[in-house]
Amino acid sequence: MHYGNAAGPSEQVSADVREAVEDAVWAPSVHNTQPWRFGVRGARISLSADIDRRLDVADPDGREMLISCGAALYNLRSSLHALGYTPGVRLLPDPDRPNLLADVYLEPGERPDEESQRERAQIRRRRSHRGGFRADPLPPGILAAMRLDAEGEGAQLVEAVDVHVKGALAALTEAAEHVQERTPAYAAEIARWAPSPRTSRADGVQERAYPQRPPQSTPHFPARDFARGHGWGAQSTSDAGAASAGVVLLLVSGGDAPADRLRAGQALQRALLRATESGLSAAFHTQALEVPELRVFVRDRFCGGSYPQMLLRLGVAAGEDLGSVRRPVDEVMMEEP
Ligand SMILES: Cc1cc2nc3c(=O)[nH]c(=O)nc-3n(C[C@H](O)[C@H](O)[C@H](O)COP(=O)(O)O)c2cc1C
Repeated sequence: MHYGNAAGPSEQVSADVREAVEDAVWAPSVHNTQPWRFGVRGARISLSADIDRRLDVADPDGREMLISCGAALYNLRSSLHALGYTPGVRLLPDPDRPNLLADVYLEPGERPDEESQRERAQIRRRRSHRGGFRADPLPPGILAAMRLDAEGEGAQLVEAVDVHVKGALAALTEAAEHVQERTPAYAAEIARWAPSPRTSRADGVQERAYPQRPPQSTPHFPARDFARGHGWGAQSTSDAGAASAGVVLLLVSGGDAPADRLRAGQALQRALLRATESGLSAAFHTQALEVPELRVFVRDRFCGGSYPQMLLRLGVAAGEDLGSVRRPVDEVMMEEP
């Protein structure tokens, strides 16, 4: 392993850093805002929040922005690990710069094992699902493994087993959807991040990412209204017969400070990569967590006082998941002096 000399990092390290950032950006982010920047200085990568990309209406305090950046941080770590480094991470290293979320230092690592290579390979395979699931049971042990993944990153993944809890979470999602749709500022924000099919943008939730006719599942968790009455959406055959809501999960954390949210994002991504490897897909429904009163309700009723960070459904998607886009890495990665 060569970390370069006084003149700078070796070409190999620079190439590896670039590859790792290319993986990092394939993290999920709310409305595909990709609210991150990576500053590179030698063998140190700084992850910052790009607050111009925060959702001022749905996410005014940047909670979902931090979860998104946490997911990107996990990808970065996973990729570096598989490239043979041991990434040392300092979360929120400078109290005077709250948008500097993490410094990641490349330390010499062990020879990468097969497990870390396999995990890294899932980064670009994972896609958000926006439909129903087959009724197939989950592979044995997968939920337990995902729970351990989440705990390993400092969060908890809790299954909503009770049929009434699942039903209540679906109904709260529907209530939030109604509240948001009748709020003009929220509708304008969705419109900004769900561009028309003719777009040349490399961010936002685009037509290819959601089905034109999302299937009804029981209980029904409404999708966000990205098409806004235009009839947009992919003609997908993939959900034929996929009427199950899947396994409903809440990702929760003991606190709700920026560090807890960053940890929740890392926990989410670690668990999602494992799910992807097992042939599972996840659908996110975070509308209720964006309405402050509903988030408090979910917390008090269903999270035992822990803070709900994500609501997701997990299962075997019928057919392919749909497509997504990312900005080129040169737009988000800069060399720092
Ligand atoms: C914090 C957070 C909240 C999200 N909420 C939703 C949601 O409510 N509905 C949805 O369809 N997707 C949701 N997503 C998924 C993003 O829209 C998705 O990650 C993004 O469009 C990129 O697509 P990809 O995950 O397929 O790469 C959320 C993602 C994150 C990280």
